[in-house]
Amino acid sequence: MSSRGLLPKPGLRGGFSLSRGHLTALGPLALAAGVGTYVLCRFFSGKSCGKSKVNHAISKDSAKVAHSFDMEDIGTKAVFCRCWRSKKFPYCDGAHTKHNEETGDNVGPLIIKRKGP
Ligand code: FES
Repeated sequence: MSSRGLLPKPGLRGGFSLSRGHLTALGPLALAAGVGTYVLCRFFSGKSCGKSKVNHAISKDSAKVAHSFDMEDIGTKAVFCRCWRSKKFPYCDGAHTKHNEETGDNVGPLIIKRKGP
């Protein structure tokens, strides 16, 4: 097929009509474009999107979220959130259960207990 034969012919209504020869020639090109796009997306998503953020909502205006507690203020037990989904952050409110169900993750809180007085 000559290169001239690859060009679609103008249709009656102003569009283009594609013959079987056009579709046969464009099929491998479309397949190559699809595979190329898939490979590029996989490559670039592994470089940037694969490193997703864990904190979606807590103190997003701060450069770093950090908390400090005195052991005397904790009492006998404190349960701290490690999933970043708690509405009472930095304390756990059980939101990790829903997160785990939705994502298949297995995160849970940090529980600190103090032995006797
Ligand atoms: S709510 Fe985040 S660990 Fe429980």
